[in-house]
Amino acid sequence: MGATGYNRPFEHSGSLTALMRDYSCGLIPERALGCEIWLAGWVHHRRDHGGVIFLDLRDATGLVQLVFSPGEPALFAQAERLRSEFVIRVRGAVTRRPPGTENPALATGGIEVRVGTLEILNPAEPLPFALDETGTSEEVRLRYRYLDLRRPEMQGRLRMRARIARELRNWLDQAGFLEVETPVLTRATPEGARDYLVPSRTQPGHFFALPQSPQLFKQILMIGGLERYYQIVRCFRDEDLRADRQPEFTQLDLETSFLDEESIRDLMEAMIRHLFRVVLDISLPEPFPRLTHAEALARYGSDKPDLRNPLELAELSDLARDLDFRVFREAARAPGGRVAVLRLPEGGRVSRSQIDQLTEFVRARGGAGLAWIRVLDPEAGAAGLNSPIVKFLSPDFIDGLVKRTAARCGDLLFFGAGERATVNETLAQLRIRLGGDLGLLRPGFEVLWVTDFPMFEWDPDGQRWQALHHPFTAPRTADRPRLATDPGSVLSRAYDLVLNGYEVGGGSIRIHDPELQRQVLGLLGMSGEEMQEKFGFLLDALGWGAPPHGGMAFGLDRLVMLMTGAANIREVIAFPKTQSATDPLTGAPGTVTELQLRELGIALRKPAHS
Ligand code: AMO
Ligand code: AMP
Repeated sequence: MGATGYNRPFEHSGSLTALMRDYSCGLIPERALGCEIWLAGWVHHRRDHGGVIFLDLRDATGLVQLVFSPGEPALFAQAERLRSEFVIRVRGAVTRRPPGTENPALATGGIEVRVGTLEILNPAEPLPFALDETGTSEEVRLRYRYLDLRRPEMQGRLRMRARIARELRNWLDQAGFLEVETPVLTRATPEGARDYLVPSRTQPGHFFALPQSPQLFKQILMIGGLERYYQIVRCFRDEDLRADRQPEFTQLDLETSFLDEESIRDLMEAMIRHLFRVVLDISLPEPFPRLTHAEALARYGSDKPDLRNPLELAELSDLARDLDFRVFREAARAPGGRVAVLRLPEGGRVSRSQIDQLTEFVRARGGAGLAWIRVLDPEAGAAGLNSPIVKFLSPDFIDGLVKRTAARCGDLLFFGAGERATVNETLAQLRIRLGGDLGLLRPGFEVLWVTDFPMFEWDPDGQRWQALHHPFTAPRTADRPRLATDPGSVLSRAYDLVLNGYEVGGGSIRIHDPELQRQVLGLLGMSGEEMQEKFGFLLDALGWGAPPHGGMAFGLDRLVMLMTGAANIREVIAFPKTQSATDPLTGAPGTVTELQLRELGIALRKPAHS
């Protein structure tokens, strides 16, 4: 019985009488016709039909129809007690279904099993939701995950996940990568989120942090001479959750020595192309398209644009400096300002009241407004444009606008003006919304490298520089002198892989020179003492012959979500957390006893908000 695995469909010759069943429900072969066989599984559906009971029996491989006829009253009475999700074992004859009653939607739709023996292995309580019900709340699905997992879609996604992981492992193994495990109880690894902390009993007042990624360990493995490492590894980040974020998630994490960024990207492309080919039979382009970070923001307002969406932005900042329209002029002249336009072809399908809704959408995301123009005739200057703002626009501006957007008759143009980050964010969101609402997305997969990220971004709250990737990412060699004079202009050797608008992976060439590492940590506001206390082990290791190295990590959950077409990553994780980072199944996180706290030297305060 223990040998029955879902991906190795169960079928045996009948010689091992200890086994519970002869076949899996969904895989009963033609040659079993006429045979008496044992089956086991869950009651999926029961239909009582004029004195005959039809029952769908389900296991991990699918369904088969069982028939109980009233000829045997004791058996029939037993069958009448069966309800959804009872676990049963039956013995019966495999017969062809009467003509006209076949179910072509089912692999076993041509046959049925006429039951002669029924054993109830375990009854089931009435279900909190029917398995084929849609619209069950996620809270309920997660609380009764064991029921939710019985749904074929869930099992299909988990099987696909296992397949993806297996293909990646095999490929990496062939490519000379060594799988190495790294600690879960460790020190803080800065990836930009809050840490999950674990108190130490043996060192009172000291805490482990769960890794946000194995970043430092994989670098140490390179310094340790391993040259090619990978791991499918759990990472922990205490951050606000979204559809594509979980507090614990899985990375395919890699690191290599003696390769530059081009070679690493080539290698990773080959791996991802292989994965899509074998798992989905899809050919991704060779090479993957690439955009610099600056181009991505200029054209899409986002560093992870969904290239299935054909809409693009055009730049107007330089054209708007002398306009009479104050909103545009001021944004164009402000140091961190931007004026940009999003062109929507065939904009006639968007009504005035829809434009008002879109304006609200933009305002809710921090935009000041959403100026718009309907293009009637792109050749006719101001007379060919329809909008309350046209009267403020100069002929030069209109000329540039028409050229840069390649505006055509019937287009609707949307404008964003203001602080660059806000304009980018709001127009990027508008682009996503229009693409979705108007069904503009091309089908399939669009993959993209984003490169040439800035090393740092200014954090106005903390009044300091922050690393855009993480503090171990190397600056471009040519930019290194500007670290001291103009850190904001320094580009890094980082790259992200974007798939259908999601960041599915990111990585970089690392700093392998301890002096440079100290300089970068210093720029991030760290004192020499603090560096030594937090990253002394890395700084020391870099001083003992660290090879040039670099790597990447993929968000495995996101990759699986996209490859299975799931709506969010919780659908591809067996036991995910809710939006509030709790687990309704086990009730985690839970409280602990006073004794446990005392052993850890911890006293609880009243939570500030209660
Ligand atoms: P990064 O922080 O970009 O890089 O993470 C790599 C990838 O992990 C996925 N990811 C997440 N998935 C689900 N939930 C989350 N909360 C979450 N956070 C990140 C994303 C992301 O692209 N150590 C570096 C990698 C490196 O430099 O090699 C790192 O962790 O798909
Ligand atoms: P107002 O001058 O405020 O009447 O705005 C004229 C038009 O410009 C309206 O359609 C506003 O929604 C739009 N608008 C106002 N501020 C901005 C802005 N910062 N970016 C884009 N459009 C704006």
